[in-house]
Amino acid sequence: EKTKAFQKALLTWYDTNKRDLPWRKDHEPYHIWVSEIMLQQTQVNTVIPYYERFMRLFPSVNALANAPESQLLKAWEGLGYYSRVRNMQRAAQQLVQDYAGRWPHSKAELQELVGIGPYTAGAIASIAFQQPEPAVDGNAFRVFSQLLEIDADITKPQTRALFEKVIRQIIPIDRPGDFNQAIMDLGASYMTPKNSDNAHSPVRAFNQAYLDDRLNEFPVRSKR
Ligand code: ADE
Repeated sequence: EKTKAFQKALLTWYDTNKRDLPWRKDHEPYHIWVSEIMLQQTQVNTVIPYYERFMRLFPSVNALANAPESQLLKAWEGLGYYSRVRNMQRAAQQLVQDYAGRWPHSKAELQELVGIGPYTAGAIASIAFQQPEPAVDGNAFRVFSQLLEIDADITKPQTRALFEKVIRQIIPIDRPGDFNQAIMDLGASYMTPKNSDNAHSPVRAFNQAYLDDRLNEFPVRSKR
């Protein structure tokens, strides 16, 4: 029942406070995918104009698959980590050639695509296809480790599976994509690494580390 109350507090807050972002206008997997790849190493405010230009230049998986590489790299100039866009084009070609241009819906199949790891696959599966899949990145480690005082070391590769297991028990089956995006907005607004404003968080009553005055102990990182 605590889980239900947490879901309700989080999603009610999200419904009125969610950030108005261009990739949230619809649930097109192509839109979700491109935004998530751009957001991996780049801040939201920097990504927005790049995302909008990218969609004008390459409006579909097909357009991306067939684009000249020079044009792609030019559209990516300033974002860095160019392997991201090269891998996206290879994945677009996989989608066209191996999947007849149709997106697979499951997290496992999404991870078969070049450049799509567990985080991105979880984000696409939940946001575009309403699958109850976690999307665990640094933000999710921070938020859930605080909420539940999870003291597993986030630098260990096996810790992701532990967080995924915990989140699977909390994610609502009727709104998984909104839940994952609410966690992203919550982390960005109230639980940033340096500046946490937990006193005003909509889920402060569920934040065990905040209640115990142990915020500085989470997430646990052995290597630095
Ligand atoms: N960071 C990573 N994915 C995001 C998303 N879908 N919305 C906002 N911030 C994000």
